[in-house]
Amino acid sequence: METATAIASQRDYKEEGRSRFATLRRIEAILESSNDWAWETDAQFRFTWVSSGVARSTGLRPEELIGRSRFDFAAESTDRDRLSDLLADLDQRNPFDGFVYRLRRPDGVIRHVEIGGVPILALDGTFQGYAGFGKDVTEREKAEQRVQIAQRRMTDAVESLSEGFALFDPTGRFVMSNRAFVALAQSAGAKAGFGRRIEEIVAPFGAPVLAARMRAWEVPDARAAAYEAALPDGRALTIAERRTGEGGIVVIWTDVTDIRKAERARASLETELRQSQKLDALGTLAGGIAHEINTPTQYVGDNVRFLKTAFADLSAAVRAPGTGSSDVEFLLSEVPLAIDQSLDGVERIRQIVAAVKEFSYPDAKEKSPADLHAAINTTLTVSRNQWKYVADVETRFAPDLPPVPCHVGEINQVVLNLVVNAAHAIEAKGDERGLITISTRKDGDWVEISVSDTGTGVAAENTGRVFDPFFTTKPPGKGTGQGLSISRTIVVKKHGGNLGLRSEPGRGAEFTIRLPLNPASAQPKETAT
Ligand SMILES: Nc1ncnc2c1ncn2[C@@H]1O[C@H](COP(=O)(O)OP(=O)(O)OP(=O)(O)O)[C@@H](O)[C@H]1O
Ligand SMILES: [Mg+2]
Repeated sequence: METATAIASQRDYKEEGRSRFATLRRIEAILESSNDWAWETDAQFRFTWVSSGVARSTGLRPEELIGRSRFDFAAESTDRDRLSDLLADLDQRNPFDGFVYRLRRPDGVIRHVEIGGVPILALDGTFQGYAGFGKDVTEREKAEQRVQIAQRRMTDAVESLSEGFALFDPTGRFVMSNRAFVALAQSAGAKAGFGRRIEEIVAPFGAPVLAARMRAWEVPDARAAAYEAALPDGRALTIAERRTGEGGIVVIWTDVTDIRKAERARASLETELRQSQKLDALGTLAGGIAHEINTPTQYVGDNVRFLKTAFADLSAAVRAPGTGSSDVEFLLSEVPLAIDQSLDGVERIRQIVAAVKEFSYPDAKEKSPADLHAAINTTLTVSRNQWKYVADVETRFAPDLPPVPCHVGEINQVVLNLVVNAAHAIEAKGDERGLITISTRKDGDWVEISVSDTGTGVAAENTGRVFDPFFTTKPPGKGTGQGLSISRTIVVKKHGGNLGLRSEPGRGAEFTIRLPLNPASAQPKETAT
């Protein structure tokens, strides 16, 4: 029985030995079939065994490696930190993992190889070497390098922007930015550090800016917001925020101080241009106005001289009745007439002077309610000499026209431009005395002044251009092409109204000024042109 048992257990040992051997063969077969490879070294890190997979990636046959260290094959630079970590691990006989180094193949090609290993200890604990795995990670490393290059390019591009650029994640927390953004945020008194909320960075601009930001994002399904802010040092910023595909927010801060300065400079240049056009007009008008004053002055003078002799004659007749030669009855009836005519003349002069004063009076900064009919009459008075030789002027004023909030001096300037243009068009047509009609009308929340004439009209090909700066069909000296462009600026930009043209070539033109009665709430409505 015992012998039988012993035989049985011997057979078991053999069986087990055979089956272990088979397992080892299988493992070896698996190892040999892999592109990765297994290896063993001695205590001096010289290869004692390498599986054949190493040849497929590195081109080195296992027998070429045996007896040599992997450092014999390493191509120059390997990440210094990684290398010193590895050397420290080897020194301490620690397991290591994920060490990547560059290996030069016999054909000169460089491959990236990643290894990991564990120390082999004898039963008594003495260190005998390392065993581990190696694999070729060239493609992975290259892909990582490509990602790094792409990232560096992206960072370079973002850094080269003069605008401040920042990225926030979908929860509104700061992820990254360029230096320009950090600098601007610092000027604003905010810190743009990792994890800070976008609201924290905007907050130092103050409640109104935060509110403007909220309003911009409140719109349902808003994808972007834009608002303005000012830095404490007076610089002006525009802030644009846009949702990214992942729901984060890209933010661009642009310093628009110079743009705003240029805008202000242009606005003041426009004001100067308007002012100088007005002075030009007054210069042109001055001769005509002198002429207009001359006529009543002359007959006031004639009448006063007559009154002087009449008074001498009358006083002689009073002192010595019956001695004089003059006809007292005649004087008594003529003197009151001469006095009335003188008063008329003085009144006419007063009106002209008042109109000139009114016309040239500088406008206040704010719009104020004005009587447009009085304004139109003023303009007609100062410009009388420009049109009276070629046309009659008819006014058709709406009886219910309310006072209109405006810069009345500038509206005078517009009406003057239109009246002078009308007179020129009638003169250019040249056949007969023309008619300029100025009418006013209230239309809901709007007031219209239209100036129509019986002149040449505007040629069809020019209707789109007459409002362009410096467009003129007049000879030098007669027109500079600024009248309508300045008029449009005054009406549209400064009053929120519009200036339209209707023309019948050969029969006349009609320009219509439309002004809102409530400039704050008015939506400019286009008139037919
Ligand atoms: N009532 C009109 N009838 C016909 N053409 C007109 C009329 N008003 C303007 N135009 C045309 O539009 C052009 C531009 O007018 P605008 O008032 O801007 O300049 P201008 O009269 O030529 O010169 P400026 O007004 O600077 O002295 C005129 O040259 C003329 O051809
Ligand atoms: Mg003109």
